[in-house]
Amino acid sequence: MAISGKAKLAGVIGWPVGHSLSPRLHGYWLAEHGIDGAYVPLPVRPEDCRAALRMLPKLGFAGVNVTVPHKETAAKAVDVLDTAAMCIGAVNTVVVEADGHLAGSNTDGFGFLENLKAGAKGWKASAGAAVVIGAGGAARAITAALLDAGVPEVRIVNRTPARAAALANDIGGAITVAAWPDRAKALTGAALLVNATSLGMKGKEPLDLDLGPLPKDAIVTDIVYAPLETPLLKVAATRGYKTVNGLGMLLHQARPGFHRWFGVEPKVTAALREFVLQGLDG
Ligand code: ATR
Repeated sequence: MAISGKAKLAGVIGWPVGHSLSPRLHGYWLAEHGIDGAYVPLPVRPEDCRAALRMLPKLGFAGVNVTVPHKETAAKAVDVLDTAAMCIGAVNTVVVEADGHLAGSNTDGFGFLENLKAGAKGWKASAGAAVVIGAGGAARAITAALLDAGVPEVRIVNRTPARAAALANDIGGAITVAAWPDRAKALTGAALLVNATSLGMKGKEPLDLDLGPLPKDAIVTDIVYAPLETPLLKVAATRGYKTVNGLGMLLHQARPGFHRWFGVEPKVTAALREFVLQGLDG
């Protein structure tokens, strides 16, 4: 769509950024709503991240998404953080306020929960403990969101124990840590299993986890969306567990930013899903 000289501007800052599906996703919504605006990839080297972010108000940007490897730098570069970003120590959405200040938020946990609610209609936070595999930024966002939603206990299992301990310490609340070799045992009595590592992603090894101890009515979900059905989700589905793939987390985490920058609340639809998936194949 042609844009005017008054077009609203947003984008995604990353390095590299060529793989990002965000321009395709936001571009779909811009076209769907006939908005005079643009969402562009911004390839920014790590050493330039802070300066690039601070320049956004001067360039007239409404804001940006922040992706790997800049999320922690962005948390330090902005003027204010929302509770989630503060707790996680990482920012994925920056809004340029009317006075030029930069407001940083983290919508990964929101995206995760929205995807879970949409994909597993009967899911209730009160159903029982959640097991989160991983202790990186994604695991932090998911753990904070689950506790916030009222999950009674989050069990963290991570290959590197120190990172699991740091996560538990930083986020606080009802978090327990299980050792990596005990990961199958940690599934006992759980209502939800989340893979928040990159294991199972195209080109990486699958998550090696025996689902035997996981109750039959538990839900299994993955943050990996390429492939859409990870080896973990495949095994879980074969064993009769309800599964939720990771694509919706990507789609839903984008909603708050789009709303703030372009003034329209976008929807996650089957057609959007299809369109973004085509970007994955290409
Ligand atoms: P993100 O911020 O996107 O979550 P990250 O900080 O690199 O990314 O975290 C990746 C997660 O995948 C970590 O929990 C990592 O475990 P470590 O903390 O031990 O590094 C996990 N991970 C990656 N490769 C792994 C592997 N081969 N085996 C087990 N865990 C792995």
